[in-house]
Amino acid sequence: MVSHIDSDKEDKNSFSAREGFAIFVRLLGYVRPYLKRLALGFVVLLIGAIMTAVVPLIIRTSVDQIITENNTQLLDQVLLLLIGIFLFQSILNYIEHIVMAYVGESVVANLRKRLFDHLQSLSMSFYNNSRTGDIVTRITSDSSLVQQSISFELVQILNQIITIVIGLIVLFVLNWRLTAIILLAVPLIFGLTFFLGLRIQKAANRMQTNLAEAANVVEENIQGVQVVKSFAQQRYENQRFSGNVHNTFLAALGLARLYASMIALTGFLGFATISITLWYGTREVLLGQFTAGGVVAYLLLALSVVAAMGISVMSYGQIQSALGAARRIFDMIDIIPEITEHPDARQLAAVRGEVHLENVSHAYEPNTSVLRGITIHASPGQTIALVGPSGAGKSTLVNLIPRFYDVSEGAIRIDGHDIRNVTLESLNQQIGIVPQETFLFAQSIAGNIRYGKSDATQAEVEEAARAANAHNFIVNDLSDGYETLVGERGVKLSGGQRQRISIARAILKNPRILILDEATSSLDSESERLIQDALNRLMQGRTSFVIAHRLSTIVNADWIVVLNNGQIVEQGTHTDLVDRSEGFYQKLYKFQFALDQSSAA
Ligand SMILES: Nc1ncnc2c1ncn2[C@@H]1O[C@H](COP(=O)(O)OP(=O)(O)OP(=O)(O)O)[C@@H](O)[C@H]1O
Ligand SMILES: [Mg+2]
Repeated sequence: MVSHIDSDKEDKNSFSAREGFAIFVRLLGYVRPYLKRLALGFVVLLIGAIMTAVVPLIIRTSVDQIITENNTQLLDQVLLLLIGIFLFQSILNYIEHIVMAYVGESVVANLRKRLFDHLQSLSMSFYNNSRTGDIVTRITSDSSLVQQSISFELVQILNQIITIVIGLIVLFVLNWRLTAIILLAVPLIFGLTFFLGLRIQKAANRMQTNLAEAANVVEENIQGVQVVKSFAQQRYENQRFSGNVHNTFLAALGLARLYASMIALTGFLGFATISITLWYGTREVLLGQFTAGGVVAYLLLALSVVAAMGISVMSYGQIQSALGAARRIFDMIDIIPEITEHPDARQLAAVRGEVHLENVSHAYEPNTSVLRGITIHASPGQTIALVGPSGAGKSTLVNLIPRFYDVSEGAIRIDGHDIRNVTLESLNQQIGIVPQETFLFAQSIAGNIRYGKSDATQAEVEEAARAANAHNFIVNDLSDGYETLVGERGVKLSGGQRQRISIARAILKNPRILILDEATSSLDSESERLIQDALNRLMQGRTSFVIAHRLSTIVNADWIVVLNNGQIVEQGTHTDLVDRSEGFYQKLYKFQFALDQSSAA
């Protein structure tokens, strides 16, 4: 199963012509809703191409007639006619560009929405194995490449193909012998295009991959700015970024070189062909087999056909690089979410809050189980404290309840319903999580508290903030009260403040089941008390799973589960466990909490 993207694989940089065609067809699927507009664009294109072919014919007849009859009046009329035709062509051009821009922009907008929507459905394991810059580049830069190619290159190539076909027919009628010379160059030009096209696609892909790597560095530097600064690693980070930018530059240069070769070679082939036709055509005029007007008309049309060949070759190259980008997008869309809803999953209606873990095991990677044979029963409203050394599997265990990961064996039931048989949305509506590290959105305080209940009134928001002991600092210490913007990830607040906002958010959501990963960082006793107080209020009347580091939480818990090495080693109430001589809990209690108790006393 594909659960994440592998951007580093070199062989992923290229694909065969057949694969490219499949991607192209898939992209066309996104164009389908706009077929009417596309048809309009096509008609406009066709008229334009016919006019391009007609102009030389007008010129031929008029030149021959004007010269033989010495007719200046006809010359003036021809001028007006030509200007009229070119004006009309410009209008057609304008319409065509607007129509195609609409189609291209719509396709890329749909593609971006589809991709974002898909990202939302992907499981935690995908995010554990992916890099932000890589994901963002696909939504932004890769999508842009696809958009350009649909808005512009697709029209170009269609336009040029129609011009070439109609042009060649007229050329053939004008003088088939000359046209045979032009046709000789065609296989050469197209062979070359195909040869360079695959290389272009490969180079473009390499460029996008390196760009994504650079984006990863930027992302990490922003997230980790404090670490970078405190370890004075700016120079190292600069090097890392420069390295990726340089690789992007090299790939872009390679791409430019390929395009340059393409332009130079097709240009040369085109103009060499034109020169030969000029030479041959003039000889025919001298021999009386062809008129002067015929040669002029022929050359004009031959020039536009050759130019059309050149342009379509370029467009082909551009489309190749866009196909690489499209594939990077489709690769991500094709990732199958690990956690999926059962086809006939039911809504989990408002629950009482009974949570039952039945012989649960979990392995992140095959054959390395992190949890084994865990059975825990929580009656509605009970508080279960999870304690144990670092790496014991506490976070893993609580992450199984909202189905961030699925159990490898056993089952988890809420009010008797296996959580795999209910919709993910309804499951998560019943569960509130206050994580160890609070994440706030770069919005206002009120916006953050309201996150789980967007229709909450201001009064409800304030009530939740009061219960979370946050109201006072919000009104007294913050410049704009509830409208204060908290900065990215909430950096403008202190750790304790952030935590209380996160508690208020959970209180407002009012879930029946609560998961709490207590922060280990020690706060001053006043903040500690405020938070503890807020947590107690939050836990009231809810089934709570608490990864506990605070003695007071543990002592007050209805049931304590001691985990070690992925297994339950002891369980019971505080009084049961603390008396068990030489028990795991007793040792833990002595080392970890005795100090706590003495300072509290
Ligand atoms: N996403 C993951 N992918 C693979 N292995 C993981 C993942 N998360 C945790 N682990 C592994 O699972 C084991 C249990 O980790 P877990 O985070 O559940 O421990 P914990 O009890 O919460 O520890 P702590 O008290 O330090 O938070 C560890 O050995 C860890 O390396
Ligand atoms: Mg943990």
